[in-house]
Amino acid sequence: MRNRPILCLLTSALLLTAACGSSTPALNRAAGNRLLSPPVAKDSDPDSAVVHISLEAAPLTVEFQPGVPTEVWAYNGSFPGPLIEANQGDRIIVDFINNLPEETTIHWHGVRLSNENDGTHLTQEPVPPGGSFTYDFVVPDASLFWYHPHFNSAEQVYRGLYGPLLVHGDDPLPEATERVMVLSDLDLSSGQLVLPWSDGNQQLENAMGYLGNTQLVNGQVSPVLEVPSGGLERWRIVNASGARPFNLKLPGHVLTMVGTDGGLLEAPVEFDSIVISSGERVDLLVGVDGSAGQSVPFLNASYRNMHAPAFVPDPDHELFSLSFKDSVSGVDRNIPAQLNPIQTPAVDAGDHRFQFNAALDPRPADILDGSVPADKDVFFASFAINGMLFPDVVPHQAQLGTVQGWELYNHTLMDHPFHLHGYRFLVESINGEAPPYRGWKDTVNVPGSPGGTVEVKLIVPFEDRAGNWVYHCHVLRHVQLGMMGELEVTP
Ligand code: C2O
Ligand code: CU
Repeated sequence: MRNRPILCLLTSALLLTAACGSSTPALNRAAGNRLLSPPVAKDSDPDSAVVHISLEAAPLTVEFQPGVPTEVWAYNGSFPGPLIEANQGDRIIVDFINNLPEETTIHWHGVRLSNENDGTHLTQEPVPPGGSFTYDFVVPDASLFWYHPHFNSAEQVYRGLYGPLLVHGDDPLPEATERVMVLSDLDLSSGQLVLPWSDGNQQLENAMGYLGNTQLVNGQVSPVLEVPSGGLERWRIVNASGARPFNLKLPGHVLTMVGTDGGLLEAPVEFDSIVISSGERVDLLVGVDGSAGQSVPFLNASYRNMHAPAFVPDPDHELFSLSFKDSVSGVDRNIPAQLNPIQTPAVDAGDHRFQFNAALDPRPADILDGSVPADKDVFFASFAINGMLFPDVVPHQAQLGTVQGWELYNHTLMDHPFHLHGYRFLVESINGEAPPYRGWKDTVNVPGSPGGTVEVKLIVPFEDRAGNWVYHCHVLRHVQLGMMGELEVTP
C-alpha cells in the first residue's frame, strides 16, 4: 500500500468507507450472498455439562473478490471463528494450537473466569508458533461473549482472529428466531487485504485505530437475510472490530434491547438506533414487518465516529439487507416488562479515578487540513491512563469481597471503549445522568467531547477470582500506544 496516493489516503480518512482506485469489493461467499451463521465448534465431550473443543489459529486464504485470493488469519479455517455454544454453568475446555507465524494467546472477552485462563501477559506465556495451550474454565453467566488474541492484538484481531461464544440460559422472552452476528471491518483494495500499519498514514491510524473500508457481518459484505413478515427475530450481536463503533438501525423498525455484555437487562428498552463500541455486545428483539419483495437495510447509521470535529462522520452504511418473503401471523411479541432484577451493590471500598489522556504530534486535524504532510517521518502518539503508559504501570489494587466505585474521566476528543477483564460492572452514570439501560457490562464507551471532560461512573464488585487482570481501551491500537492498566485483586 506504499503506493496508495496521499490524496487518496486523506479522502479515505475523511470518508472512512471510501475505497480508492477500486470499487467496493463484494464478498459473495454463499450462493445468493445469504447471511450465513458462523459454523458451530464441534464438542467432542459426551458429557452435556462439558464443552470440549479444539481451536487452531492459522493463516487462511479467502476470496473477497472472486478470483483474488487474499490471506487472513483465522480460527479453525473459519472467518470469523466458529461459534462456541455452551449452557450457563458449563465447563469449557479448549485445546488450542498456534499455527500462526508469531506468538499469540486467546482472551475470553467478558467471561468471569479463573485468572489463569484469561489469556493475557499476566496469566500465561504467549503460545509460540507450533505451540499449544489448554484453556479450561466455567461460564457462570448466560450471554454472548467472544474470543480473540491478547498478544499483538491490534494486528491479530484486524487480520481476522475473533469468534463468538454464546452461553445459553433460561430467559422469560417470547420465542424468536435467534441469530448470532459478528460485526467487524477490514481494508480491501482490489480484493486484497491492506495492512493499515503499512500505508504511511500512521497518525490517523494512531488516533482512529485500524478502520477498514469494508464492513462485515459474519465475514460477509452486504448479505441478504430473508425473513417472514410478522415474525420475531432475536439478534445477538458482537462488535468484534478493534476500533470501529457501529450505530445499529433498522429503518421503520424499533429495536428492543433485552440484553447487553453480561446478560439480560433489568427491563427491555426500545431504541431507534443504538451504538455498540468495540468489544460490546447487544441482544435485540426485532418484530419484522414488510410486504413481500420489499427489503430494508440494516444500517451502521451515520455516527460522529468517535473523533475530533475535523473528521467527517461516516455516511449510513448497509450491513445487510432484510428481505421479506412470505408472512406469518399470530407471533407472540409480548416482551415482559421485567427481565432480570439487578441488585445494585453498595460501594464500600472507595471511589477510584481513572483519567484518559492522549498526546499526538502532529495532530491528526493538521494532517487532514494539509498543514502537515501525511507521510511525515516522525510521529509521537501516546494514550495514557492516569499518566501511565503500559507496560510502565503500577497495578490498581482491590480486595476480594469489596465493591469499588470507578470514575472514568475522558479528557480527549475521541471515544475510548473501556474494558475490564474478569469482572463485570454496572454503569451508574454518564456525565451525571442515568445510563439508557441497566445491565451488567464489561465494556462501556467513554465518549470524547470537544473541549470538555466526560465522566462515566461504574460500580465494580470484586466478588471472587483473586489474581492479576487488565483493563484497557478496546481501540486495540490505543493499547499498543499505552492505554492499558493492571489490576491486582487480593484475598
Ligand atoms: Cu476484548 Cu482485553 O479484550
Ligand atoms: Cu482509546
